[in-house]
Amino acid sequence: MKSLLEERVRKSRIPARLDLIQSLSGLALGLFMWVHLILVSSILLGKDTMLAVTRLLEASFLRPDVPGGYPALVAGAALTIFVIFIVHAGLAMRKFPSNWKQFREMRSHIKMMHHTDTTQWWTQAVTGFVMFFLGSAHLIIIASNPDKIGPYLSADRFVTWGLWPMYLILLFAVEFHGAIGMYRLAVKWGVFDGKNPQQTRKRLKLAKKCITVFFISLGLASFVAYVKIGIEHRDHAGERYVPTAELHLENPSH
Ligand code: HEM
Repeated sequence: MKSLLEERVRKSRIPARLDLIQSLSGLALGLFMWVHLILVSSILLGKDTMLAVTRLLEASFLRPDVPGGYPALVAGAALTIFVIFIVHAGLAMRKFPSNWKQFREMRSHIKMMHHTDTTQWWTQAVTGFVMFFLGSAHLIIIASNPDKIGPYLSADRFVTWGLWPMYLILLFAVEFHGAIGMYRLAVKWGVFDGKNPQQTRKRLKLAKKCITVFFISLGLASFVAYVKIGIEHRDHAGERYVPTAELHLENPSH
């Protein structure tokens, strides 16, 4: 039978383990979001490029005659991200104020101290809350329409489905949350500490700002591109884009 001491030691390790899981899930989501936005922004290089990226991820090259390739790949990826997302959010909730009194104390603490770490914590909580709902909605939509991604089908979601406000809010929430999260991870685990941690912290702060500006600009440019295509394509919403190279196959007279 386990001794009381052993049981206490085991229990005292649980918060550290949960912290580690929160950090690892955050790291995975942060890296995923950067890759995701780079893939989504392929629209800036043209409709053909975005379609080529989509077809690659759907493994359409293994099934060229079926539109949408293997949608299970997209749905599987969305569900995997959803699970990590929920685990990460669930673990973060442990640190939320648990009643109105704690919440008020924290707010006055933030106002009084103007301390970057506390303000950042607050930004993480608010953006995290927004993402919990909008990110879940986006993932459910993608997981239930895994074969409907492409330059026209995605753009239709922005305009004809009317989802542009969701994407816009989500973009800002994700980019602030992701960059602050990665910065805090680096500080917490001392990844780049080196000889002069103070200087490293300054450099990390600068990196965080640059990364946020870069991804928000990239996201906004892509957002404008999808909305523009969505408006132009409104009368044919739901139709797939036919790449330039395949146009003559569809209509041999051209
Ligand atoms: C495997 C999971 C995911 C897939 C396959 C995916 C796929 C896509 C696709 C195809 C688009 C283009 C619009 C559309 O077709 O609806 C898009 C846009 C977007 N996604 Fe995701 N997504 C995933 C996860 C996420 C998550 C977890 C978030 C944030 C919580 C997110 C945030 C966004 C944002 C903000 C945009 C708009 C980008 C812009 O306006 O430039 N996505 N996503």
